[in-house]
Amino acid sequence: MAILVVGGAGYIGSHAARALRRSGYEAVIYDNLSTGFRRLAQGFELVEGDIADEVRLRPVLARVDAVMHFAAHAYVGESVENPRKYFRNNVAGALSLLNSALDAGIRRFVFSSSCAVYGVPEKIPISEHTPRAPVNPYGASKLFFENALEAYGRAYGLCSVSLRYFNAAGGDEGGEIGEMHDPETHLIPLALAASAENGPELQVFGADYPTPDGTCVRDYIHVNDLADAHVRALQYLEKQHRERSRDEKGGDSLAVNLGTGRGHSVLEIIQAAENATGRPVRRTMGLRRPGDPPALVADPAKAQRVLGWAAQRNLADVVSSAWRWMEKTAQRHAA
Ligand SMILES: NC(=O)c1ccc[n+]([C@@H]2O[C@H](COP(=O)([O-])OP(=O)(O)OC[C@H]3O[C@@H](n4cnc5c(N)ncnc54)[C@H](O)[C@@H]3O)[C@@H](O)[C@H]2O)c1
Repeated sequence: MAILVVGGAGYIGSHAARALRRSGYEAVIYDNLSTGFRRLAQGFELVEGDIADEVRLRPVLARVDAVMHFAAHAYVGESVENPRKYFRNNVAGALSLLNSALDAGIRRFVFSSSCAVYGVPEKIPISEHTPRAPVNPYGASKLFFENALEAYGRAYGLCSVSLRYFNAAGGDEGGEIGEMHDPETHLIPLALAASAENGPELQVFGADYPTPDGTCVRDYIHVNDLADAHVRALQYLEKQHRERSRDEKGGDSLAVNLGTGRGHSVLEIIQAAENATGRPVRRTMGLRRPGDPPALVADPAKAQRVLGWAAQRNLADVVSSAWRWMEKTAQRHAA
């Protein structure tokens, strides 16, 4: 079975492509390399193109059975400053991809959604029953697409899974691939970089939140746990597809949280980074960033119940794998 991994030259997509291959699927990567990297797609067929390019997509979609859609702009702050860019890619571009997939006869679709669809939730942990009320254009773009998938399920028989990731982190245990964002805004790589001799200082945004140590709490999920969840989602869709084509029923749209169910504060992450590197993380304590919720922690029970998935790796695994990847990258640059 062949899967089109759209955005597969990016951080999470490249890990998912490898997980698919390990599970016996053929993965074809489709990416415009806007924030992705050719080297993350190494060893896979890479078709360069934009999600909005129907002509480029048509022959590729004709030879796959399902689509996994990772491609998006994903900086919350930038989405506030430049919503047009976000709605163009994450909504208009994504809809164009969805229509191309549908026209090619594809009925199985996995989407990278985000805990950003929940906005600032009243209750932690966050279950899928929590109202979806995004507080920035990035989250709104993800919610729009989730709604489109639901409507396409009802109207056109599409079977989809929206995976609402919490904070993806870490790298492949083999050290061959890992997190690559430019600019990097994610806490773990920034904390690790701040422990290097000449690295930039880590800026901590707010130490007066109503959390145990005053810093923000997030649910950090290992990227390979996320990747494995994509394989489970595909297996779920295969089952739906078989049962539905037999009974001639309509489509189906499932949305699940992907997190560990455990929150870690910024100070805990700093401690974990210091444990991994053996060096202090240089930091300055700054003011809160507008729009940052104090705590975002998943209730992952539905993913366990419906997909049979639960995170296997803990924070130490996340941080040590991220550190191994950073060290390897530094060695490669030095060579
Ligand atoms: N990283 C996280 O913690 C996190 C959390 C929640 C949700 N997500 C979502 O997961 C997905 C992947 O995130 P990531 O961290 O791997 O980001 P990334 O930037 O590393 O990967 C995105 C990939 O999509 C490609 N892309 C973007 N626009 C495209 C277009 N128009 N046409 C073709 N390719 C395009 C980029 O070149 C890149 O390779 C995104 O949809 C993001 O919103 C990420």
